[in-house]
Amino acid sequence: EHGDWSSDVALPIFAIASDHAGPPLKAVLKAELEQRGYTVLDLGTHGDDSVDYPDFGRAVGEAVASGQAGRGIVICGTGIGISIAANRIAGVRAAVCHDVTSAKLAREHNDANVMALGVRLIGPEVAMDCLDAFMTTEFSGGERHVRRIEKLG
Ligand code: RB5
Repeated sequence: EHGDWSSDVALPIFAIASDHAGPPLKAVLKAELEQRGYTVLDLGTHGDDSVDYPDFGRAVGEAVASGQAGRGIVICGTGIGISIAANRIAGVRAAVCHDVTSAKLAREHNDANVMALGVRLIGPEVAMDCLDAFMTTEFSGGERHVRRIEKLG
């Protein structure tokens, strides 16, 4: 039921991390990515002990910005805190996605390289749909979108 994931991810390595809210969803997304042939750098957290989302957003942001990973996924209760953390790393464009439309437009217009998800807001099936849209949608390019992304940089 999912589309062709032979997308424009140049480097088939994903960095993924969450705070204590996210390990169950992280495991679901990681398994799907691995089944599709991607290498997943799981940067934690691994248990349900309370941790601070900025540490994990930063870890994924640095992995993507340095080129160690082609794309990233970050998860916290809302997706908001951890997206803010990832976006503080230059070169990262992290988008909180709640549905297929937000994931699709984050790729088409913003060339998002990190997707942020909130486990208190969406369930695993919607998260999988977001991942699918994030994987199958290419940046639409074009002078106006490129100009805006360059201004973000
Ligand atoms: C819990 O730390 C909660 O604040 C976190 O998961 C996230 O929702 C922050 O944006």
